[in-house]
Amino acid sequence: MTNKLRYFVANWKMFGHLNSLNSLNKVIKFKKKNKNAKNLKIIYCPPFTLIHPFIQKLKNTTIKTGAQNCSFGSNYGPPTGSINAMMIKSLKCEYVILGHSEKRAKGETDNIINRKIISALQNNLKVIFCIGETFGQRKKKLTKKTLLSQISKGLKKIKNKKNIIIAYEPVWSIGSGMIPKIEDLENTTRIIKLFLSNKMKYKNPKVLYGGSVNQKNVNLLKNITNLDGFLIGGASQNSNIFIDIIKKTFN
Ligand code: 13P
Repeated sequence: MTNKLRYFVANWKMFGHLNSLNSLNKVIKFKKKNKNAKNLKIIYCPPFTLIHPFIQKLKNTTIKTGAQNCSFGSNYGPPTGSINAMMIKSLKCEYVILGHSEKRAKGETDNIINRKIISALQNNLKVIFCIGETFGQRKKKLTKKTLLSQISKGLKKIKNKKNIIIAYEPVWSIGSGMIPKIEDLENTTRIIKLFLSNKMKYKNPKVLYGGSVNQKNVNLLKNITNLDGFLIGGASQNSNIFIDIIKKTFN
């Protein structure tokens, strides 16, 4: 298989209920039957309420499940309404998304994200670590500075980075239908990868793109040299569309 895009992460955000499980059937079949899909890493990140049912549903498949956030601290404790990495791992869940801009917008700082990443890794979860600049930062030409700062602060004191995948999601492109110009994305992802390899001492870093990925723009996005896959929000909730996006990356 020539496809270098291996990761297709479905972030369902605050969507989905038990009946949504049926929609996984098509993706399960696709992953099993399509020879190009066999080596792909398809990861579903449903809301907390659906993690256990997803794991049950996907247990005899190669499709993985992730959470969309976790608290730090590895023991039981009082913060009402919180769920930590230990609890997520106890469900046999394998991944967690951290640092998503929708959480940053609610006050999640780089320091909090760093503590969450450490806690997730200690509990043997793989981390999909989101970074991204706002429209204002982009206009002020602060994209590079913002992204490299988010990476350095988010990964502070973390030596073993092999279980951390970076997801570059420009805040202004999430849910907006807009994506960066392809040459900008080439440049930004190259800067991210170089920084990860040279400054952060990552071996073989993985970088995903997220933000309004759909069946149309994937034809452009799939050609970006430094990408290893996509983190897909809205378009991942419909299995036909999700499969279509994946198929368009073959060849
Ligand atoms: P959309 O694909 O809906 O723009 O969402 C992207 C995202 O936030 C994935 O984490």
